[in-house]
Amino acid sequence: MSEELFEKAGIFAESLYKCTPKEHHPNLLQHVSLVFEYGVKLAKENDADETVVGLASILHDIGKVRGKDNHALSSAELSASFVKRLPLEMSQKKLIIKAIRSHDNEFSREDDEPEVKIVQSADALSRLFEPGWEQVNWSQIPREYIEKHYNKFDSKLTFEAARELAKERMAELKKHLE
Ligand SMILES: [Fe+2]
Repeated sequence: MSEELFEKAGIFAESLYKCTPKEHHPNLLQHVSLVFEYGVKLAKENDADETVVGLASILHDIGKVRGKDNHALSSAELSASFVKRLPLEMSQKKLIIKAIRSHDNEFSREDDEPEVKIVQSADALSRLFEPGWEQVNWSQIPREYIEKHYNKFDSKLTFEAARELAKERMAELKKHLE
């Protein structure tokens, strides 16, 4: 059942990701599949709703088609009518939209549901485990850029098991700030 829904959402989302200007995100499709992978893994291992997490992960960045600013809100808006038609409980549909909107720190809260925290954390994990990490020439990256990302990941890793997964990479990033 979930697989079918994931496939359907994938087709819908891909049509938007393919229209998203490269400058808003150079590897958007690769990023989204990594968020999905980490999200579903964390949901499975921690008894969270895998369908909610998987669908929200697939859809979370579709708003970038309208630009990077406020993209979490645009993603939630653009997902609304698609999610509404899915054969799911109303509570699941609400949670999917909430997880999409709240993957941006501005809308997330400490008492968010595990599904919301998982999607937000998986977004950070996907960046931390992007292919090519080993080849990064850190000396060429401005300190402010590393710091900005470190702080962003730190605030997005709201799910404990995800923080644990990210621990080594975060420590490595921090080393470049010393
Ligand atoms: Fe993202």
